[in-house]
Formats: sequence, C-alpha cells, structure tokens
Amino acid sequence: MTGYLREIRPETITERRVTITVNGEQRTVEIEPRVLLAHLLRAGLGLTGTHIGCDTTNCGACTVLVDKKPIKSCTMLAVQADGHEVTTVEGMASASELHPVQEGFRQEHGLQCGFCTPGMMLSAMALLERNPDPTEEEVRWALSGNLCRCTGYQNIVKAVLWAADKMRGTS
Ligand code: FES
Ligand code: FES
Repeated sequence: MTGYLREIRPETITERRVTITVNGEQRTVEIEPRVLLAHLLRAGLGLTGTHIGCDTTNCGACTVLVDKKPIKSCTMLAVQADGHEVTTVEGMASASELHPVQEGFRQEHGLQCGFCTPGMMLSAMALLERNPDPTEEEVRWALSGNLCRCTGYQNIVKAVLWAADKMRGTS
C-alpha cells in the first residue's frame, strides 16, 4: 500500500490496560488504543443507555459525564478516560429514587422514542450542577449539542426547568 495507508498487522496492535471509575465503580479493562469510549461503555461494559446517533460528533446521543463534564463519548478514546470518573445514564438514579432530571423528563413529557434522552439528561444534569437556576435560553444553549428528532425540544426545556425547581426545593 502507498501514501499514508499502511497495512496494520494484528500483531502490532498492543492493548492497553485502562482503569476508569464508571458510576462509582472502578473498572479495569484491556483494550486497543483506537477503541472509542462509547464502544467501551456499550459493548465492553454493557452500559447500553449510551447511544450512537451519528459519526460526526453532532448528535450528542453518546453524551456521558467525564469528571462531571458532558463529553461526547464517540469522540473520546477510552484510553483517554484512564484514571477519570465517568457517569452514564445508568448511574443517575439512586437505589430508590430517580434523579430530579429523570423525574422532570417524565413529568414534562421530555421524551418520546427515548434515543436522545440519556445524553440529553446528562447534559442537563451538568448544566444544573454549574447553574442551578438557568433561564430558558441558557437551557436551550446548554443542550444545543444534543439533537432530538421527536420532541421539538419544548418539553425538554420544561423538564430541565422542572428539575431545576425541584433541586432548589421550590417545587
Ligand atoms: S454519536 Fe453523535 S455525537 Fe456521539
Ligand atoms: S425523544 Fe426521540 S430523539 Fe429525542
């Protein structure tokens, strides 16, 4: 082969050992450096709430929190998460209660097919961590990296404002 295309021989691929705290639990895996965090979560760890809706980093269905910041996990290598904390949708609820953001999405009908919902809720959770009393415009801006084909967004915005009220103890 010519130019920048080089044949890759399987024996030249070395796996790396990576330790990530996922939803509070330390997980150690051996993976190729090219593996995306989204694929590790879904196929490697069975956390299939993280979805993949595009291959160009725009839909946000793969959003997870890495050290509490929303990250599109289709655009991060799993090895880059080594030593970091990852939260997926499966880690949002406590043993007995939904997270207020999850409750808000149910109360305000902020989901239909549910495919965008895990990423959408995690972006919302990160927003409310840094801004407990956002305006509608701030919610829309914070979720602008998350696409939804079903809801038209209006009820998602209401869901996040509902959660904000609940978290501030005003609802
Ligand atoms: S899968 Fe679309 S942004 Fe990650
Ligand atoms: S609820 Fe279907 S894509 Fe958002």
